[in-house]
Amino acid sequence: MNDAIRAQFPALSATVHGRPLVWLDSAATAHKPMAVLDAMNVAAATSYANVHRGVHELAVRATAAYEGARADVARFLGDVDVRDVVFTRGTTESLNLVARAWGDRHLRAGSRVLVGQMEHHSAIVPWQEAAKRAGAELVAIPFTADAVYDLERYAQLLEGGAAVVVVAHASNAFGTVHPVAKMAAMAHSVGAKVVVDGAQGAVHGPPRVAELGADFYALSGHKLYGPTGIGVLWARPDAWEETPPFLHGGEMIRSVRFSGTTYADRPARYEAGTPPILEAIGLGAAIRWLEGVGWNAIVAHETGLTAYLLDALDTVPGLTWIGRGAPRVPLASFVLDGIHPHDVGSVLDREGIAVRTGHHCAQPAMEAMGRVATTRASLGVTSVPGDVDALVAGLAVVRRRLG
Ligand code: ALA
Repeated sequence: MNDAIRAQFPALSATVHGRPLVWLDSAATAHKPMAVLDAMNVAAATSYANVHRGVHELAVRATAAYEGARADVARFLGDVDVRDVVFTRGTTESLNLVARAWGDRHLRAGSRVLVGQMEHHSAIVPWQEAAKRAGAELVAIPFTADAVYDLERYAQLLEGGAAVVVVAHASNAFGTVHPVAKMAAMAHSVGAKVVVDGAQGAVHGPPRVAELGADFYALSGHKLYGPTGIGVLWARPDAWEETPPFLHGGEMIRSVRFSGTTYADRPARYEAGTPPILEAIGLGAAIRWLEGVGWNAIVAHETGLTAYLLDALDTVPGLTWIGRGAPRVPLASFVLDGIHPHDVGSVLDREGIAVRTGHHCAQPAMEAMGRVATTRASLGVTSVPGDVDALVAGLAVVRRRLG
């Protein structure tokens, strides 16, 4: 990737504490190219109205743009049927939808819900609550010191039966890309549904959800160079058929009488209220922008830069990076001997370098690794080797000041 790509991201030319910004926090959220900002501005200025509700010209334009974005997402997910693509406000809402709607309908007293121990709180807690409501059992799938799921233990856990398996496409805490297709096939052999948190995994290449074996796949727009407030839930048609609506009202309705209500077909059935119209349009623009850059080029760039990052971190004295599981998305989670990650993050910030520190909303993952927090550096399409060099130089400053 080159300066021409970075020049399309106005936020990257910011200065922080008098220094040029070094953005190593793409896994938390990605900055937006002008193509996304422009698409949202133009839609707001020329084609804005509520969708699916009016016969007037602006409503027609807004509906076409909104549904066009759904087609962009369907193509991105591996040419899936647009009817199976539902817009939500983000991965967390998508995962809550599945746990509330599918979970409350299908979990029974004694059902088992297998959730990866490395997962984000948004993948664990909705199922913990659903399990409580149903009297079901929440079971953690353990992982090894390399931050890879222990497939032998997983197979043993499946022998006890499972209604649902919840796993990320890639770990936000340690970066491991999980063997989702294999884990899904194993889950399906005992009749379990498979819910995949794609918030990190979808960002580094089109996820081809059907081949992955997911029954449900969730992602967020803001990590994919689109806006906040927009996410996606895709499900197989048979999984949707088993999922009642989650929120009620607005265009998800077909007819309402005080004696009873019928619902629209999907996707509208799951999109209650006025949806995030401009945000969906922004997400569609982000997907088209990424396609314009070219996924092959993006994957090659990020793969090369990840190797560069890991090699560079290996040269830093007293640094241990957590979870060497391979393959991985372009991020590294690490600790410096004797220095708290929050202090690392604060000193790096004074150098203009943005990283994430803490438990990364994955406390069970941290606990299993015997840590309370790490420093996480994450890369994306806009990252360059100079960002990694700046991080290594910044870590030397950290060591001088605090070591
Ligand atoms: N879940 C996001 C992260 O990992 C916010 O940083």
